[in-house]
Parts: sequence; structure tokens; C-alpha cells
Amino acid sequence: MKLAVFSAKSYDRVYLEATRPTYPHLHIDYHSFALTQETVSLARDADAVCVFVNDTLDAPVLHALHASGVRAILLRCAGFNHVDLPTAESLNLFVANVPAYSPEAVAEFAVTLVQTLNRATHRAYNRVREGNFNIEGLLGSTLHGKTVGLIGVGRIGLATARIFEGFGCRIVAHDPFASAEEFRPYGTLVDLDTLLRESEVVSLHCPLNEGTRHLINADTLAKIRPGAILVNTSRGGLIDSSAVIAALKTKTLGGLALDVYEAESELFYNDHSGEILHDDVLARLLTFPNVIVCSHQGFFTKEALTEIAGVTLGNLDDFVNSRKCANSLVAHGHVLVKEDSAPVRL
Ligand code: NAI
Repeated sequence: MKLAVFSAKSYDRVYLEATRPTYPHLHIDYHSFALTQETVSLARDADAVCVFVNDTLDAPVLHALHASGVRAILLRCAGFNHVDLPTAESLNLFVANVPAYSPEAVAEFAVTLVQTLNRATHRAYNRVREGNFNIEGLLGSTLHGKTVGLIGVGRIGLATARIFEGFGCRIVAHDPFASAEEFRPYGTLVDLDTLLRESEVVSLHCPLNEGTRHLINADTLAKIRPGAILVNTSRGGLIDSSAVIAALKTKTLGGLALDVYEAESELFYNDHSGEILHDDVLARLLTFPNVIVCSHQGFFTKEALTEIAGVTLGNLDDFVNSRKCANSLVAHGHVLVKEDSAPVRL
């Protein structure tokens, strides 16, 4: 069995190699570049490919993979919005993800971003290193007693609720597929308008699909509580970036923390520090003192990487041995997830 790993960083190698002894017949080729129409030919000797969040898995790439003999696609991530699942289904490709490697890792990162922005620790760090011990301009708010609005209360949303609960926050959530009863220990399920109106912090934890694309837009931003902090650790496409720039300029939005960005695939995970930044929207975002952008690192903990490597190779092992795989997104000619709903688990 030959596996071609795309977008492979040093840490991917370390954690996959640590797991590989469990599968002695597995040969792995690592490619540091992303899977695209230009690079798909590099998978020609492989039986399976392993990809990450910014690899291309559209119809042309899937057809090319299938034509070269690839039969399994292993996503070493939870999100699958970048995979054309109907095409994968029509080609009878096996596709599996790692649905829950560490919800707490992402939740903890979302809260870290909120508190960095709120308490300006990033600015304090720079000031003190420059010998400036002045705290003017670093004034924050006490989180205790504030209302936090969670959009999406699946695994990561619930883990985020648990942390904010510890801060003494009131939690409201919007999730059309969640049960009010199950969410009651954490807070109240409300409609989106209520959440936007009441929350001092709004955190996005729903998947990106056609129903949620640009969920945060000029209309929804007009309803947001003035001065609210918006944090997105989910997927960049949930936010209309131009609309948030407008809301930041009018101070409707009090702060913006992004771990993900709509056009991130052009930039994230690579060093572009010696180049001119051509993305004018991102360049504008980076000029605001109350905006933090990180390059999709919410998942990036040792525990999560261990889990990702183990589950990814376990998914492949299920495929090879024709075992039922709990993480299949497409199997036996069926798409097992609906575009605009919560994933259906086998
Ligand atoms: P999940 O599937 O457990 O939960 C997603 C929740 O969103 C579900 O409860 C679902 O009912 C809800 N939802 C669906 N449509 C909605 C809508 N229109 N409005 C409000 N809620 C809606 O997924 P999980 O594991 O919690 O992950 C959430 C997202 O986090 C993933 O889709 C992925 O894009 C992102 N993610 C980001 C990472 C990072 O490193 N920054 C790492 C892992 C995941």
C-alpha cells in the first residue's frame, strides 16, 4: 500500500512516522507542496492520498486521482468543505476524515484569541520588550458576567462553552440542529438575531457549507451588539471579509480574531515574509489594532497531532481491510453527510 501525503510539514512526518510501525506494509511518500491540478500527477504511483485543509479536491483533481489508480482519500482534518463529495461518490472513492482529534485544542485556542484581543497581551508583550512599560491603551473588559454567543455547538462549540462557563460567562448559542435540552447545562439556544443582539463575544463553530457561507455579512453585522468581539476558528468562508472591514471602520465591531481566512489557501502554512502581499483585504485587516490573524493553528497541539496521525492511518487500515470505517464521508457509493446539515455518523 502506497500513500502519498500532500502539504506535508516536518510535524506531519514526525507524527505519521511515529504511527507507521503499526502498519509495516505501508510505504509513505511525503510531498511538501499542496495537492492541486498541477501536482496531482505526483500521486500516480499511490493507492491513497492524505491531504489537509488547503489541498484541492475538486472534480478535476478527483478524476485525475481516480484515473491514476488512487482509491482512498484521507483527510487529516475534520472539515471537508474542500472536497467535492458527490464526485468522490460517483467515482466510488473512499473518503474519511478525523472528526474529533481534539475539540478542546481548537476551543482553547478560540478562548486564547478572545483574551489576547480583549486584554491586549500581544501588544503588552511587544511594548515591554521595547522597554515601554506604559499600560495606556491596553484596557480590557472582565469576561466574568459577559454574554458569549456560540454559533454551532457540536464538539468544538461545546468544548468552548465549557471553558467560557469557567470564566463565569452567560452562554447563548445558535445551532439549528442542536437540542435545547442537551444544551441546557451550558446555556440557552436562541435564534441568530438574539445571539447577535445579546453577545459581547461571538464565536463561530459551525461548518462551512452553502447554507453558512458568509453567515457573517453586512446584514448580520448590522445586528451585532456594538463593540462585540468576533472570533472565527472554524472556516474563513463563514465571514464576508469586506463586510467586517466596514464594521471595524465604523467601530460596530469591537475586535476580530481570525484563525481562518477566506483566501487562506494562497498564504497560510507557508513563509511569504519576503514577498509583497497581494491580498488587499487581508492587508487592510492587518492594519487594525483590534484585529488578530493566525494561520489556522487552532488544531496545532501535540495531542491533536498524535490523534490525527493515529486516526488517519486507522481509517486507511479500515479501507484496506474492507472494515466499516466510522469516519467515512463517502462509502459504497453513498455520500454520508448532507451539505447543509450536521454530519451523519455511521
Ligand atoms: P461538529 O460537526 O461537531 O459541530 C458543528 C456544529 O455546527 C453542529 O452542531 C451543527 O449542527 C452546527 N451547525 C450546522 N449548520 C449550522 C448553522 N447554519 N448555524 C449554526 N450551527 C450550525 O464540528 P466540530 O468538530 O465542532 O468543528 C466545527 C468546525 O471547526 C469544523 O467544521 C471545522 O471547519 C472547524 N475546525 C477548525 C480547526 C482549526 O484548526 N481552526 C480544527 C478543526 C475543526
